[in-house]
Amino acid sequence: MKGIFVGTKPTPYKVIIGARALTQVGSLIAKTAPDVQKVLIVSDSNVAPLYLEKVKKGIEISKMEVCEYVFEAGEKSKNIDSIAAMWGVMAENKFTRTDAVVALGGGVVTDMGGFAAATFLRGIKVFQVPTSLLAMVDAAIGGKTGIDLKEGKNLAGAFWQPTMVIEDTDCLKTLPDELFTEGFGEIIKHAFIMDTELYDLLREIADEGKVDKIREDDALLEKIVSMNVSDKVSVITEDTLDNGLRQTLNYGHTVGHVIERNSNFSLAHGVCVAKGMGIMIDSCEAAGTLPSEEASKMRDLIKAYGLPVSDDITAKEAFDGVLNDKKKRGDNISVILVNKIGHAEIKKMTAEEFESFIGKGKAL
Ligand SMILES: NC(=O)c1ccc[n+]([C@@H]2O[C@H](COP(=O)([O-])OP(=O)(O)OC[C@H]3O[C@@H](n4cnc5c(N)ncnc54)[C@H](O)[C@@H]3O)[C@@H](O)[C@H]2O)c1
Ligand SMILES: [Zn+2]
Repeated sequence: MKGIFVGTKPTPYKVIIGARALTQVGSLIAKTAPDVQKVLIVSDSNVAPLYLEKVKKGIEISKMEVCEYVFEAGEKSKNIDSIAAMWGVMAENKFTRTDAVVALGGGVVTDMGGFAAATFLRGIKVFQVPTSLLAMVDAAIGGKTGIDLKEGKNLAGAFWQPTMVIEDTDCLKTLPDELFTEGFGEIIKHAFIMDTELYDLLREIADEGKVDKIREDDALLEKIVSMNVSDKVSVITEDTLDNGLRQTLNYGHTVGHVIERNSNFSLAHGVCVAKGMGIMIDSCEAAGTLPSEEASKMRDLIKAYGLPVSDDITAKEAFDGVLNDKKKRGDNISVILVNKIGHAEIKKMTAEEFESFIGKGKAL
């Protein structure tokens, strides 16, 4: 079991990572927040049948009262009605400021459990217990919580730091294959923007033909998840409110988001991020800032983890999509570039410059 310290202000917290961590959720809550008397476990219809009882038992043994709110799995539940239902359960059961939410599930659950906690009685504790790879390495870390509106994704929310994040890597064994693969979009992103050691590890696993065996290796899973949590933690502790450095986490996302939206969200986020990174690699190579040998290494890694490096989106479509994305013509957009594995740069471009940059990559 590994503990990673997150030095966010004013309240630092820990991320606990390892196999069988779920059995300790109750005792960890009792130890970190001894005043908690009632806990609302928020989960979804896929995760609850697998893990809710285990977590519930551990919390009850630690002498806390448990309520549950389970919603239908999927992004379509990430809305204000689900949040209102969570508020309702807590109000009915007379939760007070010292009680807590446990968010047990993927990113949809951790975003919503966090938002319900941030808003109920103007803020109660949340323990994030992510069960998907994406939520472990990304969504549950950093304190961004929220819901979708019919006008768009993640449009309402709050920054709300958890009291603790508990990640049981055993949960990854029940994750559908395509969701496990998708999680590597963000993992490879971390390697490219900031972590050469992670790049080397991922490369080595791929070279040894062991990509398909990662899930069977508890120690390796713990290592990969921990390295990624540390990466995200180091970025967010320097930039808690998303003003500067945190933007580098958007590598592959500017075009990735447009591809995701254009597919009507039928393509998974991690897959779109991989495509978005592939397009940035092509564009940087065409601009002459990313050496071809480095570009090939980057593409090879993405492909080795079963993810795509291209998409038939045109530069014009990317440009239009970016303009739709809360930007106006003539506005500067911050484009995240990687010209050397392990190092990200933020470059301001006008949308027109961006179109020509992507266009050259497309013509490669
Ligand atoms: N707050 C942030 O910083 C942040 C960052 C990235 C993504 N997100 C959000 O995260 C969401 C995507 O996360 P996600 O991919 O985890 O989505 P998700 O929560 O919908 O989970 C994906 C699917 O996997 C299932 N699942 C989860 N864990 C499982 C397990 N251990 N075994 C079997 N099935 C399991 C879920 O029930 C669901 O069907 C999006 O809503 C996105 O906006 C937030
Ligand atoms: Zn992402």
